[in-house]
Amino acid sequence: MRDFLVAGNWKMNGSSAGNAELVAGIIAGAPRSDRVRLVICPPFPYLAPVAAQAAGSGVAVGAQTVSQHESGAFTGEVAPGMLRDIGCEYVIVGHSERRELYGETSATVAEKVKAALDAGLKPIVCVGETLEQRESGSTESVVEEQLGAVIDKVGIAAFATAVVAYEPVWAIGTGKTASPEQAQEVHRHIRALLAGHESDIAAATQILYGGSMKGENAAGLLAMPDIDGGLIGGASLKAADFLAIAQAAAQG
Ligand code: PGA
Repeated sequence: MRDFLVAGNWKMNGSSAGNAELVAGIIAGAPRSDRVRLVICPPFPYLAPVAAQAAGSGVAVGAQTVSQHESGAFTGEVAPGMLRDIGCEYVIVGHSERRELYGETSATVAEKVKAALDAGLKPIVCVGETLEQRESGSTESVVEEQLGAVIDKVGIAAFATAVVAYEPVWAIGTGKTASPEQAQEVHRHIRALLAGHESDIAAATQILYGGSMKGENAAGLLAMPDIDGGLIGGASLKAADFLAIAQAAAQG
């Protein structure tokens, strides 16, 4: 039986004072369940203080992206080893906003996943189709291309550590959630894709759903056999909203 992972992607939101309150609220209200792990992913400047505040609480910390390089002349970039150094355990890689707004290709995403794994981070690898791609019937081939690039680069064994997040682009920040059945269909396909390489690994890999997940729709999504948690944007910015999803996981 896979555990649930509920990850908050704060995106470019927060402040020192606001974060301290949010993190305290999340730690205080985190479900006391061995089967649910919470991760919070603040912007880079806040990672170290948030990691310090969360240390020992059981709530893990992750970054929202990472460089594919180890060190050197890459102005503005942050290396995977630096993230480990300040207490990050996870890193989101290939979020659709990174792909769309910053030109990250599947090849770049694969390099970043490799660099993250080499540094001892757990990558949360995001995949998902646009509305146009869904409507043209290419959801499965899009996900296959995005995930395939990563599997080719790091090998299937890496998915004993790496997490997958299925995030249909049309559901992100739009209030339009995939129905549990729509999401399950793609999650099942992703697991079958992994199983085509190694069935034991596929059975254990956590596959998260992301895209307008909130307290009201979390239970239905998390009840699906191949949905093992969520990657939460908007609803991760308030402790009560984030915890409602965590509670749904704890009861699932
Ligand atoms: P949302 O974002 O929950 O605000 O739709 C999810 C994400 O982008 O990870």
